[in-house]
Amino acid sequence: SMYLMNDRFVKNDEVSISIEDRGYYFGDGVYEVIRVYGGIMFTAEEHIGRMYESAEKIRMTLPYGPEEMLSKLTRLIEENAIREGHVYVQATRGSAPRVHQFPGEDITPVITAYTKSYPEVPVVPEPAKLKSVDDVRWLRCDIKSLNLLANVMAKQEAHEAGCLEALLHRDGTVTEGSSSNMFGVKDGVIYTHPVSNFILNGITRRVIMQCCEEIGQPVAEEPMSLEDVYSMDEFFMSSTTNGILPVSEIDGQKVGEGTPGPVTKRLMAAFEAKLP
Ligand code: PDD
Repeated sequence: SMYLMNDRFVKNDEVSISIEDRGYYFGDGVYEVIRVYGGIMFTAEEHIGRMYESAEKIRMTLPYGPEEMLSKLTRLIEENAIREGHVYVQATRGSAPRVHQFPGEDITPVITAYTKSYPEVPVVPEPAKLKSVDDVRWLRCDIKSLNLLANVMAKQEAHEAGCLEALLHRDGTVTEGSSSNMFGVKDGVIYTHPVSNFILNGITRRVIMQCCEEIGQPVAEEPMSLEDVYSMDEFFMSSTTNGILPVSEIDGQKVGEGTPGPVTKRLMAAFEAKLP
């Protein structure tokens, strides 16, 4: 299959990244994951828009603009004949001898992208189990940065406890997941952390907010405490890769009946109706 390497489409064995790439040294870069449904990218403009915003927040100027990025990723998906899958794209600040401060103007960002194909027969995922994990990340979680060490550690901790995802909390206030946003339902109202520097403003989250508006589902963008979550009627998580995924258990305690509740189900139907 083909890869995107800056402005070129290259075969697997032609990809070469410098050992001095700042992504490798520092995680100095940004990324996106975009779902492909039936050969079409879902919310591509939003993802690419967020990527350029993330780049701007770390003061990195990409060598070409969002329109060109969109057409390149579209071509990559076509070249690789992706029907169901995703495209991963990242940009690092480029390759230069290892000093922390930015390299000179002559050093340009390195963009790479690959596609991943999903099995043709979709696997319906089981409701997720969560493990609460202390959110020890930095204070700019709004940036979709390549620096994912705290996310990796949290996910691994959850994984070792037999859970799919970590439920991150700062001093008992639930923020999000290690690679997802989190939502609880209590007395018919959906609760989720407001958009701030403590969470990634998820594209799936945005689609969910839109769905809620359309179906008249009340939402409160208010943080939940870790104590709150154990007594929620329903709970679900959202991400590009999993869409809306119901949660059955948190820290070994069943959420509601442990099966997807009515609010989650209605929302999932509204969400699915938006997919290409
Ligand atoms: N993760 N929060 C974090 C920390 C994330 O890394 C992600 C996405 C989300 C959900 O955002 P979106 O709905 O835009 O995918 C929330 C991607 C999928 C990943 O790292 O693989």
